[in-house]
Amino acid sequence: MKNTAHYQMCRPWLIFILSLSLTLLFTPATAKVPAVIVFGDSSVDSGNNNLISTLLKSNFEPYGRDFYGGRPTGRFCNGRIPPDFISEAFGLKPAIPAYLDPAYTIADFATGVCFASAGTGYDNATAKVLNVIPFWKELEYYKEYQQKLRAYLGNKKANRILTQALYLMSLGTNDFLENYYIFPTRKSQFSVRQYQDFLLGICENFIRELHALGVRKLSLTGLPPMGCLPLERATNIFGQNECVDEYNNVALDFNRKLEKLVIKLNSELTGMRMVSAPAYDIFYKIIKKPSLFGFEVAGMACCSTGTFEMSYLCSQYNPFTCSDANKFVFWDAFHPTEKTNKIISDRLIPGLLAKFSH
Ligand SMILES: *[C@@H]1O[C@H](CO)[C@@H](O)[C@H](O)[C@H]1NC(C)=O
Repeated sequence: MKNTAHYQMCRPWLIFILSLSLTLLFTPATAKVPAVIVFGDSSVDSGNNNLISTLLKSNFEPYGRDFYGGRPTGRFCNGRIPPDFISEAFGLKPAIPAYLDPAYTIADFATGVCFASAGTGYDNATAKVLNVIPFWKELEYYKEYQQKLRAYLGNKKANRILTQALYLMSLGTNDFLENYYIFPTRKSQFSVRQYQDFLLGICENFIRELHALGVRKLSLTGLPPMGCLPLERATNIFGQNECVDEYNNVALDFNRKLEKLVIKLNSELTGMRMVSAPAYDIFYKIIKKPSLFGFEVAGMACCSTGTFEMSYLCSQYNPFTCSDANKFVFWDAFHPTEKTNKIISDRLIPGLLAKFSH
């Protein structure tokens, strides 16, 4: 009896202490932003394509063989991709779930969510090539997410998360390599410079819409040294399978224009804090001086023959796939290994922390 009374008396305190420790547990004091939210293509897709009808998938072995539990997730990688490393560095979860994945709920998405779709681009026509999620649709999904988050947490809490979250955006390679340089339509309409400007116009509108929806912290990744992707090297038969300079120069040009856009929008959009992530330089350095970073192979990928395979062509039944992906800069013909992703992320993270953790 005595004990029960004592318990009754203490109960409000117990509940208070319990809820306090739960709050501390689930919103880690170390988190520098409340959430990381991702838009883009396969460079940042954590598995949305698993749920749509496209041939561009990677939710089977050997993809994911170095991920937690050796599990293929739909990431185009043997392990984690840059948003995962960035989320972890900001004190949040070490892997960002895909918005369409039914294994997760809005409770999971409250601290990070990915709307990206492998194979997509700024240009609507690019998403059509492999029947993936068009970029405008990623924005529609984001709007739906905002509604769900408000219904789940209430307007005040949800709006705080949406405004203070770090947003990552990474795409553009497919517009050139899966669309402009492959199909005649865009080439007949635009010179490559005009096409860059066309894409940047779409990018600008997208960011203006994000800003109107409350987004304030945004890191924009431009193009990688896309002439050095193993697939492009493999087709450069008259150039001894070296990097395709033309594509790298287009990427550099595009990135310079993107930087100008960032400066312009930072000054025009009230409260906006945008950066362009300088990923090209470190990526290029890894490719040109792989041994400096502990790699043995940069010209070919780990998966299969390392020249043209990705998605279903990179399968577990292929006997040529390398045994140690850490020796390779590229995992498949189009995508870096986890180790490359980590080195690139480690180069970007200090700048992101300095800019966005307050
Ligand atoms: C892309 O398609 C969407 C949906 O049909 C449309 O609203 C948008 O204007 C298109 N974008 C461009 C640049 O044509």
